[in-house]
Amino acid sequence: MDTVLLEMKEHIATITINRPKALNALSTEVLEDLNTALAQVCATKSIYALIITGAGDKSFVAGADIAEMKDKNVDEAATYGRFGNQIFRRIENFRCPVIAAINGFALGGGCELACACDIRIAADNAVFGQPEVGLGITPGFGGTQRLARLVGAGPAKEMIFTGRNIKADKALAIGLVNSVVPHDELMAAAEKMAANIAKNAPIAVANAKTAINEGLQTNIDAGINIEVKAFSACFATEDQRTGMNAFVNKEKVDAFAN
Ligand code: HXC
Repeated sequence: MDTVLLEMKEHIATITINRPKALNALSTEVLEDLNTALAQVCATKSIYALIITGAGDKSFVAGADIAEMKDKNVDEAATYGRFGNQIFRRIENFRCPVIAAINGFALGGGCELACACDIRIAADNAVFGQPEVGLGITPGFGGTQRLARLVGAGPAKEMIFTGRNIKADKALAIGLVNSVVPHDELMAAAEKMAANIAKNAPIAVANAKTAINEGLQTNIDAGINIEVKAFSACFATEDQRTGMNAFVNKEKVDAFAN
């Protein structure tokens, strides 16, 4: 992998999009490397939380690679859009929580990548936008779908139709990010949150993620059934016995098995 760095330590993996000269723009090579890194993290069962960030001080991801995209025909554009969407869907459905640590520009495909993650922490220099209509295209890696689900149709339409960027404080105000931290504290904040997630029962966390994601796509009654299934399935795990016995015995859980 030339364009993506992968670090795994203890129960936390960090994927860094590493193409800083192009502000970490998503070329096909970057998408392929990202896919490879995701497969490696997925196969490493001891990883309970994943952080995605961008290399350098300036940019998380400045979008899909415009130079590579510009000469595509309709079929090639559809193939490219499907490929990116397949990877972002993989992130959304990833077996453990994914935190976007947004260290600068999150534009176009970069904003869409952040939206595919479960939790977004922004540095105070972060800038968000869906500038695609200014390039003569629509968002193509899930922006017309996830952004509206996250922040509501009004703010999403404003961002997408105007193509105007917003700063971190506005992103926080509309619910696009969970928190904003000083730039030099970003990775520490993301790692602290990842560690907090990783110390909990991993199957319970994974079941909760699935229940939230699946429930958001259905009505409340079907959603409650999804929750009952997720909740009751935990009672077949060692972690449920460990967690509840520790509580009644007034002990602390050292570590969950799974
Ligand atoms: C290719 C990019 C790029 C991109 C930046 N670069 N963004 N290359 N694709 N999306 C490259 C520049 O060409 C330049 O390369 C280098 O990174 C530094 O960028 P500058 O423009 O010189 O930096 P700066 O003046 O600081 O401006 C930063 C910026 C600007 C505001 C982020 O780069 C910008 O507007 N980038 C494009 C943002 C965008 O429109 N994103 C959406 C793309 S469409 P050189 O070689 O000149 O140094 C999209 C669709 C997704 O994402 C769905 C597809 C299916």
